[in-house]
Amino acid sequence: MPPITTPSGLSMASLDAPSTRLARAWLGLGLAALTGSGLLALLLVLSRTPGIQHVFPLRDFFRAALVVHVDLSVLIWFMAFAAVLWSLAGNSRWATLGWVGFWLATLGTTLIGVAPFFPDAQPLLNNYVPVLQQPVFFAGLVLTAIGVGLSVVRALLTIPPQISFKGGMPADAALRLGVWLGAVAAAVALASFVGSWLAVTDVLGQLLWERVFWGGGHVLQFQHALLACVAWFWLADALGAPVATSGRATAILFLIAALPLLAVPVIYARYEVGSGEHMGSFMQLMAHGHTLMAPLVLLAAAALWQVRWQVAPAKSALLASMGLFVTGGVLAYLIQGANVVIPAHYHGSIVGVTLAFMGLTYVVLPRLGFGAPEDRLARWQPYVYGGGQLLHVLGLAWSGGYGVQRKVAGAEQVLTSLPQKIGMGMMGLGGLIAIIGGVMFVVVCLRAMLPRRPRQPLKT
Ligand code: HEM
Repeated sequence: MPPITTPSGLSMASLDAPSTRLARAWLGLGLAALTGSGLLALLLVLSRTPGIQHVFPLRDFFRAALVVHVDLSVLIWFMAFAAVLWSLAGNSRWATLGWVGFWLATLGTTLIGVAPFFPDAQPLLNNYVPVLQQPVFFAGLVLTAIGVGLSVVRALLTIPPQISFKGGMPADAALRLGVWLGAVAAAVALASFVGSWLAVTDVLGQLLWERVFWGGGHVLQFQHALLACVAWFWLADALGAPVATSGRATAILFLIAALPLLAVPVIYARYEVGSGEHMGSFMQLMAHGHTLMAPLVLLAAAALWQVRWQVAPAKSALLASMGLFVTGGVLAYLIQGANVVIPAHYHGSIVGVTLAFMGLTYVVLPRLGFGAPEDRLARWQPYVYGGGQLLHVLGLAWSGGYGVQRKVAGAEQVLTSLPQKIGMGMMGLGGLIAIIGGVMFVVVCLRAMLPRRPRQPLKT
């Protein structure tokens, strides 16, 4: 069957090509992980909402739920969707490597999901990859890491990073380069995790995992942001507003945005893992390195402006995604101390990335051999999810301004003042609306992915 030449984004292999089938599989795993994370978010939100927090029976599971909420969303949903893009951007070689990676990650995800129900699941709330100090969870984490690692290796082997400084460049070459650079960032992050793990010998418990995941956790944010830009450009293209710059100029902007990755080996070479300089350098890399993405973000915003009047699921997702991402970026510079402004920033930025991936899911579903997303529901879903998250984020930011602590629930929150209660009330309402938006996304995808039973003619 000839390759699928499509109006937008990456030109893709045929429907029955191994890379397309791998992309379908990783999308399925990503959706399952996002669903699990969304269900746990319900427990988190209800455990922190004033009035409900005291009566909610599952509030004692808050910490374990928070660990799995974060790992299923930031780690598995994001890495699975990245693997969808890596499969679509690459050729069909090394398929077996791809499938071994997929099944190991699926088994790992399942173990992470069931680990809280095993005894002694002690939650440790370190940043980036929080853990349950328990064998089933660690087995899940290691299997997932190996599975994702194999998929990263396959991506670097199968995606040709095309950039030529002479003559024309295919329109999708810049996007393919962006996807490839996402795989490079993932490889640097995985190497950082291994490097830190080997270097940290003198501490245990939460401090150990904080040091093991600090470097790689920061590097993963560059992967997510690079692939968010790929998703925005693809969405804009699908809406008939390809970005203004030439393929070559866009490719150069992607290379510039990935430059901070070069600093990672320097930080490891210069500073001892876990030292103040090491931790501080990664915070600086994040704060300053992401500014190199600004030209890509502005290009996507210019394309959004061109399609501002269009009514389509891709447009809703592009608008909601960019709005939330920019809100999260602004909140990053308002972080002072360990309060809920931090999760406000996180949810702005990474739920902005999530919305970009949700919109791109709508665009690629038919090209993966599934049905087209149901238009009306798919058009409203990003606004419900994004709008709910915006209220959730603003509630967290407001409450953080009044000193409400992060990662605590129930009475531990010590909500005494009216502004604190109003802020966390907003967090709760916004969170519930966002969860409804998350359910809408899963419904739209399942309706498009599951085979439809032909309608029975009415008996007269
Ligand atoms: C339906 C949407 C969601 C809701 C309602 C929600 C709600 C929450 C809540 C209430 C917390 C606990 C905050 C605290 O106690 O400090 C939390 C933490 C977190 N969530 Fe979500 N979340 C959602 C989706 C997501 C998604 C899609 C991601 C990532 C892709 C994500 C990543 C995180 C992270 C990283 C934390 C830890 C924050 C920290 O370390 O302070 N969440 N979430």
